[in-house]
Amino acid sequence: SILIVDFGSQVTQLIARRVREAGVYSEVAPFQSAEEAFDRMRPAGIILSGGPASVTLETSPRAPQRLLEAGVPVLGICYGQQLMSAQLGGNVVISGDGGEFGKAFVEVKQSCALFEGLWQPGERHQVWMSHGDKVDAIPPGFEPVATSEGAPFAVVADESRRFYGVQFHPEVVHTPDGGKLIANFARHVCGLAGDWTMAEFRGAKIQEIREQVGKGRVICGLSGGVDSAVAAVLIHEAIGEQLTCVFVDHGLMRSGEAEQVVSLFRGHYNIPLVHVDVADLFLGGLAGVTDPEAKRKFIGKTFIEVFEAEASKVGGAEFLAQGTLYPDVIESVSFTGGPSVTIKSHHNVGGLPERMNMKLVEPLRELFKDEVRELGRELGLPNAFVGRHPFPGPGLAIRIPGEVTQERCDILRKADAIYLEEIKNAGLYDSIWQAFAVLLPVRTVGVMGDGRTYDSVLALRAVTSVDGMTAEVFDFPGDFLPRVATRIVNEVRGVNRVVYDYTSKPPGTIEWE
Ligand code: XMP
Repeated sequence: SILIVDFGSQVTQLIARRVREAGVYSEVAPFQSAEEAFDRMRPAGIILSGGPASVTLETSPRAPQRLLEAGVPVLGICYGQQLMSAQLGGNVVISGDGGEFGKAFVEVKQSCALFEGLWQPGERHQVWMSHGDKVDAIPPGFEPVATSEGAPFAVVADESRRFYGVQFHPEVVHTPDGGKLIANFARHVCGLAGDWTMAEFRGAKIQEIREQVGKGRVICGLSGGVDSAVAAVLIHEAIGEQLTCVFVDHGLMRSGEAEQVVSLFRGHYNIPLVHVDVADLFLGGLAGVTDPEAKRKFIGKTFIEVFEAEASKVGGAEFLAQGTLYPDVIESVSFTGGPSVTIKSHHNVGGLPERMNMKLVEPLRELFKDEVRELGRELGLPNAFVGRHPFPGPGLAIRIPGEVTQERCDILRKADAIYLEEIKNAGLYDSIWQAFAVLLPVRTVGVMGDGRTYDSVLALRAVTSVDGMTAEVFDFPGDFLPRVATRIVNEVRGVNRVVYDYTSKPPGTIEWE
């Protein structure tokens, strides 16, 4: 296995993900408990992550010296590279020119085990840089093996000790060969076989859940989406009847979804499920609410209240299970404890466990969406369910800017279903991260037959994304959108104009509210 020591980078879990992609098991441990993790895991390699601190300050976090003296290969990334330099006898300074941020190129000077079968001396390769400090003297035994304009020691290596340091971030997609470099470290340098699979993740998590929960009772809130469903099925496999699922049905789901969840859980898996139909409560409370954050807050709060009431009926549970994914974690909290701006209040994280005084079971916390899908398939969930596009907790309410009413929900559901049906028929569904319709609080004039219409505008959105944190607009074949627009205007009363959203994220977000 590989131990990833976390120094607070926003993208540490991406390192773990790349290691998993290389077919190697890894665990992320905060630097404070790295020694403990090391003794427990006896890893074949160590990766030191990036981080927001500056090595030049006495007070910034260090790697336990023992880890650097254990005879185990080490890969230092960004802050991790600088730490290795500082702790092994080199030096780190604040870059005089302000550092390097974004796309950069490294020139390969020498071959090394990290580059095996990938990068040759003399070649230039694109990487992603994000650093204000840089190494200005490397420790004894190290050699520079690649350089960049802003970092003479962009990659350094001590082949005899199997120590490697990269100033850039190989874990992000903007370093095209980054995954392969990390795979080289895991397999080639550390000698790991690369045969670890999602089946083993399943087994390890089941073990972990059993240890955490013991004989306790667990309640799981189902949102109707893939994440909470996968978490529930996994937990059920671990502890069986100790789990009760509560599905708070707020009536703001896509067409046919609530029914699908109920039949899947009760019919297919035979998992105890409490289905609470509270559509009226939600719609009633949303009356007159137009501010996006107010909608989110109301839905989040009401969800919690309903859930709490149902959970107390079940009684005796001390654990709360959630399908929290890694991107939810980083979008909702700041790792460094510093101020982070709330872009949107995600309703599925936070609040509930403290209030109900429950301990959290979050088996998917380190996974990304596509990994959750893979795990879902591994657990036998139907492909059509697992492959469903992500859907936000607050549901259609945040796809209806302005006031949410039953009528507008029905219009949106119908239009959305047509859009998705056409996408599936065109064989495009799986190439798209998320496609959905947004019903705008804008009415425009149209003409149908001989009559004038004055109806709502519907916006269509489709994006591609790896993890929902950034997104590109999906490019439909030329005749697709006009066909969908025609169908929607013809078949959905209340919509007389359809537009397409061409905004990427950033600067737009995926959802409109
Ligand atoms: P944004 O709109 O922030 O969305 O670009 C990023 C991803 O998150 C989903 N999303 C949510 N998911 N609860 C969720 O579980 C929420 O409150 C929520 N808000 C947005 C969104 O659909 C996209 O996949």
